[in-house]
Amino acid sequence: MISLDISQQREFAFSERDFRFLSELVGERTGIVLAEHKLDMVYSRLARRLRALALSSFAQYCELVKGPDGEAEIGNLVNAITTNLTSFFRESHHFEHLRERLAELAAKPPFPKKLRIWSAGCSSGMEPYSIAMTMLEAIPGLHAWDARILATDIDTNMLATGAQGEYADSALDHIPPAYAKKYMLAPQDGRVSVSPDLRDLVAFKRLNLLESWPMRGIFDVIFCRNVVIYFDKPTQKKLFYRLADKLKPGGWLYIGHSENLHAVCDRFRLAGRTIYQRVA
Ligand SMILES: C[S@@+](CC[C@H](N)C(=O)[O-])C[C@H]1O[C@@H](n2cnc3c(N)ncnc32)[C@H](O)[C@@H]1O
Repeated sequence: MISLDISQQREFAFSERDFRFLSELVGERTGIVLAEHKLDMVYSRLARRLRALALSSFAQYCELVKGPDGEAEIGNLVNAITTNLTSFFRESHHFEHLRERLAELAAKPPFPKKLRIWSAGCSSGMEPYSIAMTMLEAIPGLHAWDARILATDIDTNMLATGAQGEYADSALDHIPPAYAKKYMLAPQDGRVSVSPDLRDLVAFKRLNLLESWPMRGIFDVIFCRNVVIYFDKPTQKKLFYRLADKLKPGGWLYIGHSENLHAVCDRFRLAGRTIYQRVA
């Protein structure tokens, strides 16, 4: 039971029934669990949508979502609800580990090679662009390789930002200065853009991790970080087994700092702090 009287002092009436409907819908569509303590967050993230649509209550918003134009609005609902927190080189030990593994790969014939990396739940693109910088640093002559990064997310606003590759210049605080000098363009009007070298390595696509995955090939490396924390255990379990199928035997999986695969998936071995290797 939601004990708070949630319709009293707010701009829009928001009933327990509205919250239940929206949290069930979001759970079914995205895997994101919206427990009762997320109620204020749901209100504030969706209040903007209600204003934009000139609605006066969440009951009206729920009716809209259930109605004939509902499917189109569900995209906006999902974009509003997802948590997109990210930064360049977040959890920097992953990029150090990746750089070492890629340098080892680059030292062994054949030359050049094929390399596929997936950033699953890439948010605004800082993660895949950090991977791209790491690849360029670790692999001399990368331009001759068949190397690509697939960057996917459910949130279309984040994918648009990623494809644009432009950020507030405060993003530079997280990029090692030597990398920023090489791979970011000079800041202008408080904004900074990624270089064409980075952009060329990354393809952004919308993909819901709960649905079917259209990619035919398998990956050498998968980043799926700070995505499953919002999912329940059965959904996490299913996802990690599917990720194992999409990773080459011996390939590397990086997960978020508060996530782990213990009692979730036995197809990986723990190889470092939130670093896993596919073993089965
Ligand atoms: C907190 S961000 C993490 C970004 C990045 N991986 C990092 O660690 O910095 C989580 C991302 O997962 C995405 N996401 C949530 N549910 C998803 C789903 N079912 N399918 C695909 N992406 C999803 C969100 O849109 C969001 O951009």
